[in-house]
Amino acid sequence: MSDLDKIYKEIGACNKCQLCTGRTNVVPGYGHEKASILFIGEGPGKDEDLQGKPFVGAAGKFLTTLIESIGLTREDVYITNVVKCRPPENRDPFPEEISTCWSYLTRQIKAIKPLVIVTLGRHSMGRFLPDLKISEAHGCPKVYKGIWSEKQVYIPLYHPAAALYDPRKRDVLLEDFKVIPKVLKKLSQQKNGA
Ligand code: URA
Repeated sequence: MSDLDKIYKEIGACNKCQLCTGRTNVVPGYGHEKASILFIGEGPGKDEDLQGKPFVGAAGKFLTTLIESIGLTREDVYITNVVKCRPPENRDPFPEEISTCWSYLTRQIKAIKPLVIVTLGRHSMGRFLPDLKISEAHGCPKVYKGIWSEKQVYIPLYHPAAALYDPRKRDVLLEDFKVIPKVLKKLSQQKNGA
């Protein structure tokens, strides 16, 4: 059993916080077990709760478009959330729920070892990059403390759901996404000593 499978099994039996009482399915994560890019959203919504997979509703369809806009598929990357069970009525996850779920996320990060962590939305960004404002930080790569390495590259982005309410954010997200392959190219050049 892979490390990720072990984590999935534990999440499936988790009852550490109140979110477990309202779930249909846990939503641990989906994608390539050794992905270079890890996307971290906030928490599952109704569709995700029903299917047990992250970002499969309206915001997820747009996330797929964004991933494809840089020549990748959902199978090439890994997608998860800061909480693995749906908050009721799609409310924001409470800080204590995020803290309770945190060790699952850090173990996923250690298993995947992503080169780049892309945070989607404020709640995800706030856990990794404290004190930033998303309106200023979106699309700007940051090197900060890592979970599996001393230094980690993070790219904070708006949540894809923001584009559903504000069409201007759609263009901002499409533009910000272009930073991801640029950062990966730079990292690979650094690795190869170019
Ligand atoms: N919004 C999120 O933050 N995560 C999902 O999985 C779906 C919608």
